[in-house]
Amino acid sequence: MKKLIGTSLLAALLFASCTPKAVATTTAPAAAASTSEQLAQGKTIFENSCKKCHGLPKPDDFTSVEWVGIMNSMAPKARLNDEQHQWVYDYIVSAKTK
Ligand code: HEC
Repeated sequence: MKKLIGTSLLAALLFASCTPKAVATTTAPAAAASTSEQLAQGKTIFENSCKKCHGLPKPDDFTSVEWVGIMNSMAPKARLNDEQHQWVYDYIVSAKTK
């Protein structure tokens, strides 16, 4: 019994000491560049919010620079917050084939 407690205490200590590190590595890159998760979010938002008023545009229909201006006028229409605006823009640019 004593041995069992010792083992689980050790496991708890190991777990506790590893947790903050795991959290730090998952949050740090998210703040910098867009992660695949954010691109996936951007894709979902794009496909759901950007075809309400017109057909879904194709990423290749406009240049990356043109998309900046388009997103500046369309994000408020689609009621996107700043983060969602960024995710959708990043997704569109990542989905371009030319
Ligand atoms: C509330 C309605 C509405 C929503 C939602 C909306 N749009 Fe639009 N969109 C418009 C209207 C109206 C126009 C045409 C007039 C204009 O350019 O403002 C347009 C035009 C466009 C054009 C053509 C621009 C050009 O220069 O030919 C693109 C591309 C576009 N929207 C992309 C998007 C994207 C991407 C989203 C999602 C983030 C979106 N729209 C969401 C109403 C909307």
